[in-house]
Amino acid sequence: MYAQMVISEATNDDPAKLEAFQARVDANDKIEPKEWMPEGYRKTLIRQIGQHAHSEIVGQLPEGNWITRAPTLERKAILLAKVQDEAGHGLYLYCAAETLGVSRDEMTEMLLSGRMKYSSIFNYPTLTWADIGAVGWLVDGAAIMNQVPLQRTSFGPYSRAMIRICKEESFHQRQGYDIMMKMAKGTPEQKEMAQDALNRFWYPSLMMFGPSDKDSVHSAQSMAWKIKINTNDELRQKFVDQTVPQAEYLGLTIPDPDLKWNEEKGGYDFSEPDWSEFYDVLKGNGPCNRDRIEARQEAWEKGRWFRDALTAHAEKRAARRVAAE
Ligand code: 3HC
Repeated sequence: MYAQMVISEATNDDPAKLEAFQARVDANDKIEPKEWMPEGYRKTLIRQIGQHAHSEIVGQLPEGNWITRAPTLERKAILLAKVQDEAGHGLYLYCAAETLGVSRDEMTEMLLSGRMKYSSIFNYPTLTWADIGAVGWLVDGAAIMNQVPLQRTSFGPYSRAMIRICKEESFHQRQGYDIMMKMAKGTPEQKEMAQDALNRFWYPSLMMFGPSDKDSVHSAQSMAWKIKINTNDELRQKFVDQTVPQAEYLGLTIPDPDLKWNEEKGGYDFSEPDWSEFYDVLKGNGPCNRDRIEARQEAWEKGRWFRDALTAHAEKRAARRVAAE
């Protein structure tokens, strides 16, 4: 609550404070929770970090679906470790958001009531084992593309969380690509399964970077505050340029007939995702939206007794401390 008190004391439209704040951001200072910040900066951070944290937790569901179905004990152990990492990523990010004066309970209630999002990609099903490879290769690959620049974001706790998360994310991407290599170099049926997974995850992975820059609602302000370091289209382009050669090495075909190297641009020309599908998924009409929210709702309800016990224990200990003074 301290961060909120500091902010509420200052008049956020105080031009001198705003100017000094912007100068700090422009000088690549790290803004810490107890320092003055514009209310809009705080709200944007809560929105982005909260949704990022929700994405990490909801992102465990499609992969968790395959822990009991993994083809070998080794793959099961690797997938278990990855899914466990994602829980930790969610924890770091909820903790970073809490320094801004919002509680995890509030963020979870906002998620469950549809007032906060999670990444659209997790509303697609994982139908085969090759999907688990495609998720690691493409989804974690896209996440890394987006998260590496966020290590330089202006808000201290977010930037530090990203440094830890990026280290673990690169293992996630590599284990996914390793699955794709095994499948693509395996039997014809396995290769076909890998191609099918690429076909279904390619465009939803491009959507992870957000709408095209011309339609991005928050980019301009988020870039000015260095909450966002690159634009959505810049990162999407980088992801395509990095991923196409990886698909070629696998002997798989990117499902985009218009994909072609543009020498002048020094990158690939590629087809945009179907943005009507993107906004439809954001509205809750994706293949798995209902399942995902129901799973989070159930976990929230079933965990209530545990949260209440923790709170009661903490209150008892606090009361004992006061009595001992
Ligand atoms: N899924 C869901 N919502 C999305 C989205 C996506 N892929 N892309 C954009 N949106 C939403 C935005 O949240 C915003 O809606 P809101 O106002 O209700 O929040 C709206 O679409 C407009 O988009 P903007 O581009 O204007 O919004 P942002 O400036 O916030 O950019 C973003 C979107 C690039 C996702 C940015 O929020 C961001 O970089 N977030 C941090 C990274 C993140 O959250 N990644 C999610 C994946 S985490 C992950 O994959 C886990 C890994 O372990 C696999």
